[in-house]
Amino acid sequence: MPMPELAPAPQAPHGAPLLQVDDLAVHFPITRGVFVQRQVAAIKAVDGVSFHVRRGETLGLVGESGCGKSTTGLAVLGLSPVTRGRIAFDGQPLADMDKADVHRFRRRAQMVYQDPYGSLNPRMRVADIVGEPLRIHGCTGGRDAYRKRVAELLELVGLLPQMAERYPHEFSGGQRQRIGIARAIALNPDLIVCDESVSALDVSIQAQVVNLFMDLQRELGLTYIFIAHDLAVVRHISNRIAVMYLGRIVEVADRDALYDDPQHPYTVALLSAIPVADPAVEATRARVKLTGEVPSALRPPSGCRFHPRCPHAMPVCQQEDPPLQPVAGSDRLVACHLRHLPTAGHA
Ligand SMILES: Nc1ncnc2c1ncn2[C@@H]1O[C@H](COP(=O)(O)OP(=O)(O)OP(=O)(O)O)[C@@H](O)[C@H]1O
Ligand SMILES: [Mg+2]
Repeated sequence: MPMPELAPAPQAPHGAPLLQVDDLAVHFPITRGVFVQRQVAAIKAVDGVSFHVRRGETLGLVGESGCGKSTTGLAVLGLSPVTRGRIAFDGQPLADMDKADVHRFRRRAQMVYQDPYGSLNPRMRVADIVGEPLRIHGCTGGRDAYRKRVAELLELVGLLPQMAERYPHEFSGGQRQRIGIARAIALNPDLIVCDESVSALDVSIQAQVVNLFMDLQRELGLTYIFIAHDLAVVRHISNRIAVMYLGRIVEVADRDALYDDPQHPYTVALLSAIPVADPAVEATRARVKLTGEVPSALRPPSGCRFHPRCPHAMPVCQQEDPPLQPVAGSDRLVACHLRHLPTAGHA
């Protein structure tokens, strides 16, 4: 969906990564047997993913349904089992954290979910929903301070403090998502994983909520992983974008570089699915249509996982899995044989 009023390109922050992920794999076992369960196969939801997110940055994570975006998001928050790989937050591997470290990490890394209707408890008042993390982590600081903090959080997300006494059903989808955001920022986190956080909203409301995320990032110094299946949604907010396909990252680049000159055939196809507002441009631009479904994560294709759907597939693509590596002369990473041939040309 096109987003109104595209903001100027956010300045990509530099400095040490807040989050570093190396060779992450999450495989879900499939078991059979009545008395003795034995593993017969595994769904390779995430299968060798490496990336980093710098402090104050927004990394967009995009790809079709089922490619492993949510599983990646859950894994970096320590909420999914990890089959292989290393996740480090602020320099500390999650695997090395003791109980106190995990407690601190839970405060510093939060999630905003997709469904503004399903993710809020309908029997709780807004004040209790927003304040719950403060109570769980013992940060209420007395009745008055707690009330003041809840009112402040509601104001931060553009809601009125007097709305604290109401219940979720009294709010629109966009307002509910603001309540979810207020809850996520209650403990002053550093990192928020936004999993399709605006995907269920109308386009005009999407833009407002995206702008709220950007305002909060400026005010509170937040770092985001912003997950969406649609490249148009992440464009507005991301500094860099990682494109996922079937458990792998196939391309990572700065936002404008990715949109102006996509290098992986899958990124090209995803971008050409976005409608262009100008009918003259729309009529003349080349479209790359993705044929077929995403193959099963149970049995990913040999070689490059995208080869059965790729318009440029070469014999090598069926045999060799292309690593994610830098493209000469840029800091972009691409996993495609076409890009790493000595005579590589554009698709
Ligand atoms: N708990 C689980 N047990 C078994 N399989 C799972 C589990 N969670 C995810 N999967 C599978 O892992 C793959 C990746 O799922 P995931 O939800 O991460 O994808 P996604 O990119 O977030 O998709 P969507 O855009 O639909 O949200 C899918 O094949 C999914 O069916
Ligand atoms: Mg998902």
